[in-house]
Amino acid sequence: MWKMTLSTLLFVTICLVQYVTPQIVVNLQVKNLLRMQQGLGVPHILRVAKGNEALLRLDRTLENYRSCEITTPSGKTFNVKSPQNNRYSEWSDGCGVRIRNIAVTDEGRWRLTAISANNSITGWTELYVEELKASYTGSPISLKDGETKAKIELTTLENSYCFVSKPFAESSLVPGHCSVILDRTTRAIQGNWNILLGLPGQVTELETKRRVTVETERLDVGYINDRSENKLHLYCNILHTTKNITFCRFQKTSESFGYNVVDGLSDGQHSYYGKGFAMKQCGLTLENPKSSDYGTWRCSVGVQSWVGSNIKSQTPMQALISVAPNTRSRPHRDLINGRGQTIFVQQNKTFTVMCRAKISLAYCWFQHPNGTQFTPGPLVDEQQLFWYTGQSLQLGDCGITFSYVTLEDAGNWICHMGPRDQCGEELTDNVLVKVTGPLASNKREIETSVGGVATLHCHTSNGNKPLEYCRFLSPNFIGIRIDETVTENSKILDRFYFTPNRSLVYGDCSLTINPVIDKDVGEWTCAALIHDEPLEARDYVTVYIVDAAAPLSTASIVGMSFGLFVLVLALAAVLYYKNRRRLLPWRTSPTSTTGDNFSMNTRTSNAESATSDET
Ligand SMILES: *[C@@H]1O[C@H](CO)[C@@H](O)[C@H](O)[C@H]1NC(C)=O
Ligand SMILES: *[C@@H]1O[C@H](CO)[C@@H](O)[C@H](O)[C@H]1NC(C)=O
Ligand SMILES: *[C@@H]1O[C@H](CO)[C@@H](O)[C@H](O)[C@H]1NC(C)=O
Repeated sequence: MWKMTLSTLLFVTICLVQYVTPQIVVNLQVKNLLRMQQGLGVPHILRVAKGNEALLRLDRTLENYRSCEITTPSGKTFNVKSPQNNRYSEWSDGCGVRIRNIAVTDEGRWRLTAISANNSITGWTELYVEELKASYTGSPISLKDGETKAKIELTTLENSYCFVSKPFAESSLVPGHCSVILDRTTRAIQGNWNILLGLPGQVTELETKRRVTVETERLDVGYINDRSENKLHLYCNILHTTKNITFCRFQKTSESFGYNVVDGLSDGQHSYYGKGFAMKQCGLTLENPKSSDYGTWRCSVGVQSWVGSNIKSQTPMQALISVAPNTRSRPHRDLINGRGQTIFVQQNKTFTVMCRAKISLAYCWFQHPNGTQFTPGPLVDEQQLFWYTGQSLQLGDCGITFSYVTLEDAGNWICHMGPRDQCGEELTDNVLVKVTGPLASNKREIETSVGGVATLHCHTSNGNKPLEYCRFLSPNFIGIRIDETVTENSKILDRFYFTPNRSLVYGDCSLTINPVIDKDVGEWTCAALIHDEPLEARDYVTVYIVDAAAPLSTASIVGMSFGLFVLVLALAAVLYYKNRRRLLPWRTSPTSTTGDNFSMNTRTSNAESATSDET
């Protein structure tokens, strides 16, 4: 029963409301048609920052228009020609008002009514008051070098446009929210970016600056010699990275082993140095460092990063740390490994010139024997003539590979290496390039002596390649097959054996002759079949005997002539002296003169003169 009454009541009420409401609306429309029209105020909605001015007007004019009345949001009405306050004045040809120095209390609906003899129109404007933004400071923006399609938010303000000027670049006008997208970030966009913002409610643009820095992922490498604690700290920290460290390894380049450095672990002398892998820091502390701990260290930092939705291991980042016991810089010579090499390269094959510095390099380039400069870049395409070879410049490797070698490439190459950490003179090293066949003799000519030892060494060019066999042919046509099994204890013909510590597997075809006899003089052939090559390769070595009987160079001929001359003089002197002795019966003291003779004789034949003197 009760329920029924309630719903009936509700129904009645609704009917009443529905019935009453349209009646009221109709009444109003009939009486004040124009008064009710919205949209006559221009603008309909206006946002004004504090202190700015608002300019309001009606969007149409009345004929025979007599007066213009303004009603403020607080309900006060005044004629615009006689305002109650000098903040207001007339605006536009028709009915309009200018309101100066807007304050928060001005927010709300402003009505404007234009009145003529038999007619009037009213419109309103909704006014919103905003805080005046006189300044905006954003924190510096840090970007990663090489990032693509990076979106940079320049402000958090609600602006309708912004005008962005980058250093040394075209300015750009950005509609709406102030952000720019860079195709690819480079360090050239670093600096202060000037930004002009168009903000709602204020005519004056807001000027602001954002400091933009572009950081490159890199290793920060160095060492700290803590004398008070007697500790040496080496560090290799990754800066500006999103990668995580997976391992940290240090190795003295002169040692064959390294150290696996883990935070919290020590072997008594070596322990982790830094703020943790999480802070992308990798370091090694050496307690009570020994003199052997100074020198060049290599650090290797294992890293992983996100690739899509997977974590993948990346190439470890490596660098060299040059730890000097004192801060005095070392002479340049000491900074290069294995100076002045000679390399043998086979014609038309690829070849590599390689120099190694003990410090990290910024760049390296090469001077061809003909003077042309070559700066190697990465290998990107198969047609490339030359490219960089080596682990990395960071590790001091300075190498260039050419796709093929010509005879003109033979000669003295110079590597120029620019150290990473300092400006100044470049490091240099020489590499002698010899362009040969597939098998090459180390020395084309060998000087030895009868009874001495001679080593004839042939080696594969372009590095070590295994040999299937190795043979030699002597000048008097004795053929010898030889390998490591032929040692000094099992000489062939009592004189020939394979040079110790060399190996066919590493491309050596090397004969030791011990002792050398006269018949060994002349041109020898070394020959070998290189693994995987169809044809036997060979080269030649000429053996000379360097003593009285040996074939002579110009220099030795000059020497010999002089010797002969001296010999003749000496003989003459001896003859004269002997004759004089026979002529004179008394003996003079011979010591000084025989002494002279003796020393002259020594030039030609020491032993003979000594015996002749005794007799
Ligand atoms: C008002 O009066 C003018 C003449 O004075 C006349 O032309 C106009 O039609 C009138 N308007 C209305 C709405 O009565
Ligand atoms: C790096 O480590 C952090 C914290 O352990 C982890 O949130 C993040 O996913 C890791 N990133 C990579 C690439 O491993
Ligand atoms: C030097 O040799 C290189 C390589 O063979 C060649 O490209 C270059 O033109 C030569 N330069 C001169 C000056 O002969």
